[in-house]
Amino acid sequence: MMQTFKIYFNPEEDKAPYYKTYEVDVQEGMNILDVLCEIKWRQDSGLTFRRSCRHGICGSCAMTINGLNKLACETQVKSLGGGTIEIEPLRHFKVIKDLAVDMDDFFQKLEKVKPYLVAGTPPALPPVPPTGPTRTSSGRRRCSRPTGMSLIPGMRGLPRGCRF
Ligand code: FES
Repeated sequence: MMQTFKIYFNPEEDKAPYYKTYEVDVQEGMNILDVLCEIKWRQDSGLTFRRSCRHGICGSCAMTINGLNKLACETQVKSLGGGTIEIEPLRHFKVIKDLAVDMDDFFQKLEKVKPYLVAGTPPALPPVPPTGPTRTSSGRRRCSRPTGMSLIPGMRGLPRGCRF
């Protein structure tokens, strides 16, 4: 299904930014990041945007899609309905080029705010389990439970003389 995308375009030359329109053949399951890659690879290699994990974890693909801030890799084209889809850089950020914005100010503020708990004293460490075989009261060797290594086919099992 052909879909129209209107994308904020900020050329490196000293011109004012403008919107560029692209037609993309959208396949079932495509998200906005897929569309941007499709445009970059087949239509306009100069289109600039950020991406990294493709799994909604890193946040580097954040942009404004149809007026709302969203992650491009998490936004299915199908979920946006029909009509022209408008893609812009995040608002309130300085645009470096096209959809890539300058995040320096954001990270400086984040460091000042420290949005996480800071312990006054370091937490106590759990006791270290004994290593190697020990003896039961009857003198039999006893081992701690095998780790995942001994459960992997081809890996050695328990040390000789160890039973559960
Ligand atoms: S690429 Fe990491 S959140 Fe989208």
